[in-house]
Amino acid sequence: MAESFRAFVVNQSEEGFSAKLDKLTKEELPQEGVLIKVHYSSVNFKDGMASTPDNKIVQSYPMVPGIDLAGEVVESDDNRYKPGDQVIATSYDIGTDHFGGYSEYARIPGEWIVPLPDGLTLKEAMVLGTAGFTAALSIQQLEEAGLAPEKGKVLVTGATGGVGSTAISMLKKRGYHVVASTGKESSHDYLRQIGADEIISREKVYDGKIRPLDKQQWAGAVDPVGGEQLAALLTKLSYGGGAAVSGLTGGTDVPTVVFPFITRNIKLLGVDSVHCPMEIRAKVWERLADDLKPDGLTEHIQKEISLDELPDALNTIIEGQAQGRMVVNLQK
Ligand SMILES: NC(=O)c1ccc[n+]([C@@H]2O[C@H](COP(=O)([O-])OP(=O)(O)OC[C@H]3O[C@@H](n4cnc5c(N)ncnc54)[C@H](OP(=O)(O)O)[C@@H]3O)[C@@H](O)[C@H]2O)c1
Repeated sequence: MAESFRAFVVNQSEEGFSAKLDKLTKEELPQEGVLIKVHYSSVNFKDGMASTPDNKIVQSYPMVPGIDLAGEVVESDDNRYKPGDQVIATSYDIGTDHFGGYSEYARIPGEWIVPLPDGLTLKEAMVLGTAGFTAALSIQQLEEAGLAPEKGKVLVTGATGGVGSTAISMLKKRGYHVVASTGKESSHDYLRQIGADEIISREKVYDGKIRPLDKQQWAGAVDPVGGEQLAALLTKLSYGGGAAVSGLTGGTDVPTVVFPFITRNIKLLGVDSVHCPMEIRAKVWERLADDLKPDGLTEHIQKEISLDELPDALNTIIEGQAQGRMVVNLQK
């Protein structure tokens, strides 16, 4: 291991906020845990927010953002892991209160680590990353609440984003008829390639009005957008349908009404990837290597970037202009 290595570091000091590529030493990493040579990380909306001034994401400075990482164990103080093991670590305090994945090396508590399941490469794991994990949790919760392909069409909002894109391709693999809602007209070819059967504009979901009840259209919805879009889609779920909400790119206020719940028996399911218990987390990663693993994962959904390209990528995701998943190759 070299004496120093590259990392993307954000800092808030008397001189103001900074976000830049820097050099770190092993001694500057957290002192306890499993030392990992990071092969890949990824770019999530949360990472974009962590890299802007006055964000509410980073809990302590300086910080290495990057809520996702996958790599190879170099040293371990945890007897579950030994040098050479391939591992994944996502969420918890990674990249917010504990140095994260935008670094050639990271030291992560053993209890936050998942062994790389058979059937996934380190790169595939990061094409999925927190976005794919969240999409999988959303589908799992909807299916536990009764969703099945024969129940009807499934809506995915924020379709070109990370959660949206991975959800589309996983639903397709499981045999669902997938309706993708997007604000990007130029992305229709991309959405078809990754598995969308129908593509509608955001305005088809929310046209500026939230009616007490609307025409029943979808048996389920994966919703990383929230806000008024969520309130509107609830009025369009079919009887017994469900919506799994994970995000807020469309806003935090959801001005809903009670009618879809009490007359159509619909369910609103909350999805959290950060504190998801390890038992469920490990099982969902196993499914991501198996029945939920999208076809063509490394073909259409992802773009690989280097650490040098990361600052621009973080801006792109904050501006809502990202398409699919950006994977950061730390060894490039
Ligand atoms: N609960 C959890 O554990 C969890 C885990 C992961 C992510 N999240 C949250 O989920 C959300 C999506 O994350 P992501 O990584 O998929 O982000 P992303 O890649 O940036 O995708 C978000 C997508 O939302 C759509 N969008 C953006 N601005 C919008 C607006 N004003 N109104 C409606 N749609 C808008 C865009 O898709 P179109 O242009 O195609 O419409 C955009 O691509 C974020 O809020 C993130 O924090 C939560």
